[in-house]
Amino acid sequence: MTDLSVQLGPLQLRNPFLSASGTFGHGLEMKHFVSPDALGGWVSKTVTIEPRAGNPAPRICETEAGFLNSIGLENRGVQAYLDNIVPALRGSEAVIITNVGGASPDDFVTAVERLEEAEEVDAYELNLSCPNVQGGKLPYGTDPAVAEDVTRRVKDVTKKPVFSKLSPNVSRIGDMAKAVEAGGADGVTAVNTLLGMAVDWRTGAPGLATVQGGYSGRGVKPVALRCAWECARSVDIPVIGCGGISTLEDALEFLVVGCSAVQIGTASFANPGLLAELVLELPAKLQEAGVDSVEALIGSIRTPEGV
Ligand code: FUM
Repeated sequence: MTDLSVQLGPLQLRNPFLSASGTFGHGLEMKHFVSPDALGGWVSKTVTIEPRAGNPAPRICETEAGFLNSIGLENRGVQAYLDNIVPALRGSEAVIITNVGGASPDDFVTAVERLEEAEEVDAYELNLSCPNVQGGKLPYGTDPAVAEDVTRRVKDVTKKPVFSKLSPNVSRIGDMAKAVEAGGADGVTAVNTLLGMAVDWRTGAPGLATVQGGYSGRGVKPVALRCAWECARSVDIPVIGCGGISTLEDALEFLVVGCSAVQIGTASFANPGLLAELVLELPAKLQEAGVDSVEALIGSIRTPEGV
């Protein structure tokens, strides 16, 4: 029997597959496509203290290999999440990770303090990396000192595991991972979207109303894989891989470079049932490779000496 479970810091997941924040509603809206209990875990869309209307349209723009988004953290705020979403999470066998955002360290702390009343929430993912809320500037958490500070202050108000979601738009992501580890993070999610843009050369119209936005999908996979590898070799806490994963092979590559779990994001737009399909395909693929557990694959990359 193939063991699909993985250990994610203090959490045990029944398999290594998670939804990526912002691509799957808060999770249970997608239950017609993926059974709530099928996954290792569900990661919510970012929740902020107050409701946010998000950015002006157009805020999604398809490109040659993936798409750009500039949603601007649209959500109904923490109280609506507690009232309307959390009750539906009760009894879930999958791990529930609530993604939290804010414009200042205090915002993150206040949002998490409010969410602490929800015992259905198993862990938090801190969105230190949304590229769409600071007028085209680099995401809030691209400064290691800020990322460490936010992580530490959130850890001070919760006993639940905290995963810090990092931006690829930095020169040394390993240093970012070390910073959040120093702040007490239980794990790192690597990575959020790459800053990108699109323009119609005939009309001069940008693809997004904010011009710049977050690029995701197949095209980002090599960048995301490199970021995940760099994080995994820089820290002792677990890494969740994210970015362009569209097939089972993609997911296994992230495990091999050192990720303990993976998030599927943009690929779910084309095939909302993909996550469930990947879970079903996994045992046969591992058996075919002569591997009897997912854990056996994690970090099995053969990095050449001196690299
Ligand atoms: O604009 C957005 O809501 C995107 C969020 C993110 O990339 O974290």
